[in-house]
Amino acid sequence: MKETILVTGGAGAIGSRLVKDLVQAHRVLVVDDLSSGWFDNLRGLPVEFWRGSVTDEELLNEVFAENPTVVFHLAANFANQNSVDYPQKDLLVNGLGTLKVLEFARKAKVKRFVYTSSSCVYGNFNEPIREDMVGEALDTPYAISKLNGEHYVRFFHEYHRMPTAVLRLFNSYGPGEYPGKYRNVIPNFIYMAMNGQKLTITGTGEETRDYTYVDDTIQALKLCMIRDEAVGQIFNTGTGIETSMNRFLDCLRSVLQSEIAVEYQPRRDWDSITRRCSDIGKISRVLGYKTTVDLETGLRRTVDWFHQNDIRRFRMYN
Ligand SMILES: NC(=O)c1ccc[n+]([C@@H]2O[C@H](COP(=O)([O-])OP(=O)(O)OC[C@H]3O[C@@H](n4cnc5c(N)ncnc54)[C@H](O)[C@@H]3O)[C@@H](O)[C@H]2O)c1
Repeated sequence: MKETILVTGGAGAIGSRLVKDLVQAHRVLVVDDLSSGWFDNLRGLPVEFWRGSVTDEELLNEVFAENPTVVFHLAANFANQNSVDYPQKDLLVNGLGTLKVLEFARKAKVKRFVYTSSSCVYGNFNEPIREDMVGEALDTPYAISKLNGEHYVRFFHEYHRMPTAVLRLFNSYGPGEYPGKYRNVIPNFIYMAMNGQKLTITGTGEETRDYTYVDDTIQALKLCMIRDEAVGQIFNTGTGIETSMNRFLDCLRSVLQSEIAVEYQPRRDWDSITRRCSDIGKISRVLGYKTTVDLETGLRRTVDWFHQNDIRRFRMYN
């Protein structure tokens, strides 16, 4: 059935790919203040777009007057280093902004509210992380505010009976994400490598992460919308595969077919995570999620997107 779907943060790296998929079958509303997103990502797509903040109630009034039945709440102050530099803005957007969207969604009696949380709500584990292993020592204001958002979502589910679902995303990457000061390592490293710049690795290079191609992130988001089993639940995304930075660099060298110069520096003060790998047992079992794109294929597609959009010449603006 054709739904009216609101995607907050719909011009962002993940939001825009989700919107591109959803418009094929649904009416899509987007709210984005473009603080870290790119309108170019939505160009040519049949969306109704409001440029503004999820903290602005007048704007939310207008948007919810369009009667969305599903909300994907992706708008967020992104991400760790940004929150260390601007902790109040982080709390304002990720805390109060999330609460306001939840309140409007409750009044609108939406059929599904999907919240994108983050693997950073886990502490430091030396094994694949399950959903019940949330840590107590969180490293950054962003980790605190994303977990805070989860608590609000749980409250709205339990007290107001709102049909919610929470996804904890693990290092999503792919086409649609431009390089930038506060962006993720993958677009920044591709950009620097393409421009012949030396890459700075913070740590030994043996630190691991679970890199998820954006199409698989979108698959997980859509499963949270369509499957009733998702209601009231929290799921990891990811691949279940740990990749060290050194292995990632080998893969990037092979995709770019070029040498990449690297220097190693001590880890950033707030970065204590040496290993990160998702246990995707729950989402696979309950929602039927399957990883479809491996790292090399995902990197190839991301590099193709860089070439097609001439992102090597892009000027970093934040
Ligand atoms: N990319 C990842 O690896 C990752 C990992 C964990 C969690 N997440 C979460 O997934 C979601 C999407 O992440 P992304 O990678 O697409 O980030 P992104 O920065 O590309 O997207 C976030 C979007 O929200 C918009 N936005 C920011 N503040 C806003 C505000 N006050 N009002 C309206 N819009 C606002 C930005 O302009 C941007 O378009 C976020 O909630 C993020 O916390 C992402």
